[in-house]
Amino acid sequence: MAKKSQIIYECQICNHTSTKWSGRCSSCGSWDSLLETRPIKSSAHNVSQKAATGSRLTLSDLGGDIKLTKRILSNMSELDRVFGGGIVPGSVALIGGDPGIGKSTLLLQAATKIGKELPIYYFSGEEALEQIQLRAKRLDLTGEHIKVASTGNVSDIIATCELERPNIIVIDSIQTMYIKDIDSAPGSISQLRSVTHVLIELAKRLNIATIIVGHVTKEGQIAGPRMLEHMVDTVLYFEGERNHQFRILRAVKNRFGATDEIGVFEVGEYGLTEVHNPSAIFLSDKSFEDSGIATFCGIEGSRPILAEIQTLIAPSSQGNSRRSTVGADPHRVNMILAILETKCAIKLSNFDIFVNVTGGLRLQEPAADLAIAAALISSAKGFIIPKKSIFFGELGLAGEVRTAQHTEKRLMESARLGFERAIIPSHSYNKAKKQSNSLLNIEQHKLNSIHDLYKKLMSMAKVTDDY
Ligand code: TYD
Ligand code: MG
Repeated sequence: MAKKSQIIYECQICNHTSTKWSGRCSSCGSWDSLLETRPIKSSAHNVSQKAATGSRLTLSDLGGDIKLTKRILSNMSELDRVFGGGIVPGSVALIGGDPGIGKSTLLLQAATKIGKELPIYYFSGEEALEQIQLRAKRLDLTGEHIKVASTGNVSDIIATCELERPNIIVIDSIQTMYIKDIDSAPGSISQLRSVTHVLIELAKRLNIATIIVGHVTKEGQIAGPRMLEHMVDTVLYFEGERNHQFRILRAVKNRFGATDEIGVFEVGEYGLTEVHNPSAIFLSDKSFEDSGIATFCGIEGSRPILAEIQTLIAPSSQGNSRRSTVGADPHRVNMILAILETKCAIKLSNFDIFVNVTGGLRLQEPAADLAIAAALISSAKGFIIPKKSIFFGELGLAGEVRTAQHTEKRLMESARLGFERAIIPSHSYNKAKKQSNSLLNIEQHKLNSIHDLYKKLMSMAKVTDDY
C-alpha cells in the first residue's frame, strides 16, 4: 500500500501541528494560521548518539582556576553595556525590532568597529551587496574590515564559516534564512525553528558569536514561536518611535549579564550616535507650562532617566469614552484611573483620556504610577504642576504609595538637572534623608497615599487661565 502523504499543517502562531487543514487552529484559536509543511528530515537535526562532551566530569574536575572568557567589545559602549559588558564568544543573540527602526544600521556600524580587531562576516538575506555597500557609504563606514555576503541559504553560511572561521557573524534577518531540505518558505515556523537550531549548533561548534536580526509582529514580539527566544542566549529589542530621534536597545534575556540595562542612541543622517548621558534627553521644551504635565524620574538599568508625562482629559462625544496611551503601560493607566475614581472621587467615565510619554520612551517601571496620577489629577482639575517638580512611586490598589528603589540616585540626578522638589513615597524619603547631604538642594515631599498626592498638588499648583 502506498505510504500516506507526509504533509502536515503547522500553526504559524503557536506551533501546533495537525494532519488536516482547517481554517482555525484547534490549539490557539487563530484564524488562517495553518500552513502546509513537511516534517523535518532527521538529518537536519543531526542528533548525536555519542555521550555529551565532558559528561563524566564534575564541576570541580574542571579545575579551580577558571579563566573568564574574554568578551568581544564593539567599542560602542551603549551596545556593549546591553550585552553585559561585551559579546561572549560562541553566544547567540537575537535582536528584534520593528522594520525600519535601525537594526541593520546599528549592526553594520558595530560590525565595522569590531572588524578592526576580529574577523567578522555580515550575512544579509534582505539586501543585495550593492545595497549594503550604499548603506555603508552613506554612513561613511570604511568597508575594508568587514566581509559581507548576500544570501539566505544557511548551507552557504555554514560553508563560509567553516572556511573563513570568523569570530563573529551577523545574520540579517532570521526571516529571510532557509534550509533547502525544508519545503516551507523562509519565515515559516519550521524554517525559523530549524534555521535557529542550525545556527546555534554552528555558533557552539566553531565558537562564533552570532547576532541574529528578527522582525517583530504587530504585538511587538519577535515573529515566530516564543521558542526562538528560549533557544538563544540573549534577546535584545531595539525600540523607539519611528519619527522620534532616539532609539533604545533593551535586553529582555541575557544568560551572560543583567537584563535591565539599556543602550541609548540618537538617529542621524550619518547613522546612530551613542548617547552616554541620557537622563535629560526625553524632557521636552522647558519653557512650556500647562496642566496635565508631570515629570517622572525613572531608572533604566543603572541610570536615571527623566521623562515627561502628558495627559489630556476631554469629554467623550457619544458616551463611548476612549483610553489611549503611548509609552505607558495601558493596564497600569487603567488601574490608576480606577484608583482616582474610587479614592479621590474624580469622575472620569464620560471622558476620553490620553496619556503620552514624550520623546518615544516606553516606561516599564511601576514607579511611574505617581507621575501618571499627578498628570491626570492636574489635567482633571485644570491646574499646572510647577515645572521643577519630579515624581516617582508605585501606587497600590488601596491608593497607598509604595516605595521605589534607587531613591537616592533618582534624587541626585533630578537635583543635578535643576529640579527643586521631589514628590516621593514616605519610606524612601526617610532613607534618602539619612544618606546624603548633597540632596539638600531638592525638597522632598513625603506621601503615604493618593489623598496625600491630591492635597500636595492642590497646595502647590497654579490654576490655568482657561479653567
Ligand atoms: P534600517 O537600519 O534599514 O532599519 P531596519 O534594519 O531595522 O529595518 O534603517 C531604516 C532607514 O532609516 C534606512 O533607510 C536608514 C535610515 N536611518 C538613518 O538614516 N539614520 C539612522 O541613524 C538610522 C538608524 C536609520
Ligand atoms: Mg534591516
